[in-house]
Amino acid sequence: MKQLIIEGCHTLTGEIKISGAKNSAVALIPASLLSDGIVKIDNVPNISDIDALDEILTYLGATVKRTDSTIEIDSSKIQNKEIPESISKKLRASYYFMSALLAKYKKVEMYFPGGCNIGSRPIDQTLKAFRLLGAKVVEDNNKYTITAEELVGNNIYLDMPSVGATINAMLVATRAKGKTNIYNAAKEPEIVSIATFLNQMGAKILGAGTNNIEITGVDKLNSCFTEVIPDRIEAGTYLIAGALVGDNLKISNIIPGHIESLITKMKEMGCNLEIGEDYAVISKTDKLRPIKVQTLGYPGFPTDLQQPLTTLLTKCSGLSVLEETIYENRFNNVKYLNKMGANITIEGKKLFISGPTDFIGKSVEATDLRAGACMVLAALSARGTTTINQIEHVLRGYENIVEKLENVGAKITLKDI
Ligand code: EPU
Repeated sequence: MKQLIIEGCHTLTGEIKISGAKNSAVALIPASLLSDGIVKIDNVPNISDIDALDEILTYLGATVKRTDSTIEIDSSKIQNKEIPESISKKLRASYYFMSALLAKYKKVEMYFPGGCNIGSRPIDQTLKAFRLLGAKVVEDNNKYTITAEELVGNNIYLDMPSVGATINAMLVATRAKGKTNIYNAAKEPEIVSIATFLNQMGAKILGAGTNNIEITGVDKLNSCFTEVIPDRIEAGTYLIAGALVGDNLKISNIIPGHIESLITKMKEMGCNLEIGEDYAVISKTDKLRPIKVQTLGYPGFPTDLQQPLTTLLTKCSGLSVLEETIYENRFNNVKYLNKMGANITIEGKKLFISGPTDFIGKSVEATDLRAGACMVLAALSARGTTTINQIEHVLRGYENIVEKLENVGAKITLKDI
C-alpha cells in the first residue's frame, strides 16, 4: 500500500509537461492486435494501467517491447486463449480485448472488466453491438464467451454515447463484411484517435468525432506507427492546481480545444489564465465567482474532471452547483473534502458547494482515480499536512505525478506503508 503526504500552501511555478492520454493509450494498445504486422506507439504514459495491458498482451503470447514512452507490439504469434478474471478486473479497458480478439479470431473468452468504483458500469451496449454484428454472446457467472461464424456489418444505435461501446463496435466493424453505421456514437478525442490509428492500418472509417460513424470492413490491417494524444484530463487537473496555488504555472503539450469546456468554465469563475497554441499559463486568483456545471459527453464538461473541479469550486465566494449526469456514484470525494473543511452537500445527482473554504490538512482516502486527484488538489492548497491513502488509484492514471509536482515546488512524498 502507498500513501502520499503533501505539505500544502506551497506556490507552484515553472512548467508541467502533459503526458500521453491514458484513455487513448488503453484503447490503442488492445486495438494493435488487429494488425498482422508490428505496431509502434509513442507518447505512451508510464502508468500502472499500461502495465496491466502489457500483462494481458504478454499472457496471450504477443512480443512487447517497451521503453519509457514507446511500446512496440508484435501480435503475429498470439494464442487466442481465455483471459483470466484476475487480469481482466484490473481495469475497465481490458474489455477492448473482447472486441479486438472477436474481430480477429471470431471468438473470445473473458470476464467482466474492472475499473473505478463510481457506480454500475454495464457493458450492455458493447454486447448489443457484438450481437448486431453477428456474434453470439453467452454469459455465465461474469464470464463471456463470444463467438461468430461470420461478422457482418449492420446499423448500431447506441442508447447513450458510450466511449467504450463506440470503440468496441468500431474495432469489430473494421473486420466485419460490408458497412456498419454507429449512430449516437461518442465524440471524445479518444474516438478520433483510435479511428485515425485504424485508418493508418488500412481500415475504412469515416465520421469519427461526429455522432454517426461509418465503417466499411476490410480483410487485413497492416503495421503502423502512431503517437498518443496529450491527456486532456491530466491537463485539466494541473490547470486546476495552478488556479489553486499557481504563480505563472505553465501547462505544456496540451491541445486547448480538447479542454475548451473547462477553460470556458474557469474563465466564467474569473480564473487568471492565458491560453497559447499548445500550452496554458495560470496563476492563483483570490476572488472566484461561483458557477453551475453539468457533466456531459464530449464536447460537454467531462465527468473525469468533475471531482478535480469540485476542489476549485470550494474556493468560490458563494454557492456553486455541480451536476453529475454520467455516473451514479462519483461523489466519494465529498466526504473527505468536507473533512478538510469544505461545505458540500449531496442531493441526488447534484452537489451544492458553499465557499470559500480554507482547507486544513487531514488524513483522507483516494477512493478512486479522479477522487484521488481531487484530494491531491485539496492537499496542495491546504494549511498543514495531508496524508492521502490508497494512492495506487491515482498512480493508475497520472504519470510521474510526484516528480511533476515536486519540480514546480510542491512538498510531496510517496511512501510505502
Ligand atoms: N453505459 C451503459 N452501458 C454500456 C456502456 C456505458 O449503461 O454498455 C453507461 C455507463 O454506466 C456510464 C455511461 O454510460 O454511466 C458512460 O460510460 P462510457 O461507456 O462512456 O464510459 P467508459 O467507456 O466505461 C470511458 C473512460 C472513463 C470516462 C468515460 C466517459 C476509459 C478506460 N474510461 O469509460 O474514464 O469517465 O469514458 O468519458 O476510457 C477515468 O479515466 O477516470 C474514467 C473513469
